[in-house]
Amino acid sequence: MKIAFYATKPYDRIWFEPLAREYGFSIHFIELPCNEDTIFLAKGYDAICIFVNDRVNAKMIDELYHMNVKAILLRSAGFNHVDIKAAEDKIVVLRVPSYSPEAVAEYAAGLLLSVNRCIHKAYYRTRDFNMSIHGFIGMDLNNKTAGVIGTGKIGQAMIRILEGFGMNVLAYDPYPIEGLGAEYVSLETLFKQSDIITLHCPLTKETKHIINKKNIKMMKDGVYLVNTSRGSLINSEDLLDGLIDGKFGGVGLDVYEEEEGIFYEDRSTVIVEDEVLARLMTFPNVLITSHMGFFTKEAMEAIAIETLENAYALENGLPLLNKVV
Ligand code: NAI
Repeated sequence: MKIAFYATKPYDRIWFEPLAREYGFSIHFIELPCNEDTIFLAKGYDAICIFVNDRVNAKMIDELYHMNVKAILLRSAGFNHVDIKAAEDKIVVLRVPSYSPEAVAEYAAGLLLSVNRCIHKAYYRTRDFNMSIHGFIGMDLNNKTAGVIGTGKIGQAMIRILEGFGMNVLAYDPYPIEGLGAEYVSLETLFKQSDIITLHCPLTKETKHIINKKNIKMMKDGVYLVNTSRGSLINSEDLLDGLIDGKFGGVGLDVYEEEEGIFYEDRSTVIVEDEVLARLMTFPNVLITSHMGFFTKEAMEAIAIETLENAYALENGLPLLNKVV
């Protein structure tokens, strides 16, 4: 199988190159993102392999179909960046549903701890030998209430961590599971009662802007919000207004609505055009990272194995367990 591998970073090669040799696949590593301008590079390949900020719309699916590309291999669990409906009957989309839920949950907990206890600010102060702790007061997590939206693999891992802190955990998911160590409540109750809210649901029509002006108003003053899921779960303009109003104790974001073209790139020498992102960066109680919750050795290895297992199953007519429908 010949695979056109878009949006390649050096760390992708480390994990994929040796494995591809074992499977006997030929991978062409392309640094460019996958979009309407670069899709032509897929000509002559059996599959394309893309990451979270590559977009594949209906037009591109048609082009891939006419180029006889048979599969879109996602190096991710989320699949909101591909027009799945348009792909039906034309091209198979295979994802990596679970590589290391703990990696993302642990990172979400890290964001929460950093932003609550100002660790990200303290790092810069002490490097400058400014040993004052003024302004860095946080809150105990023990005995506080956490609200987890989405109780899939990552949400469940997060619940275990939050319970380890001695938190009372509330959860919301339209598809509740049995035996969860948290109490399912309505979204409204979760917003009203939580001291911290953490998002672990996928981006869908229903969850887009699940954090909006109306819901922010319901939240407790001083609430902490963590998003390691997808940027568009939060209406960024409404978040900005909430921050300006002093609603939030802190906000930790590993994802951002308009991250495509910005995250994963070195933009340190160019002028920031995204005014919302630039403004978000100015708040002392906001910590933003570049969609790296997944980024552990264990997760990278699992992503590479599962992605190539998906390709192997397709090539050998085996059941496609990770097909997105
Ligand atoms: P999962 O599929 O195991 O769980 C998602 C859960 O969300 C399911 O229980 C589902 O019922 C629930 N859900 C669906 N609609 C909902 C709604 N309207 N409200 C509340 N919950 C809803 O997925 P997993 O593995 O836990 O991943 C969750 C998300 O995390 C992914 O969709 C992806 O967007 C994000 N992610 C982020 C990463 C990062 O590096 N920051 C890495 C991997 C995933």
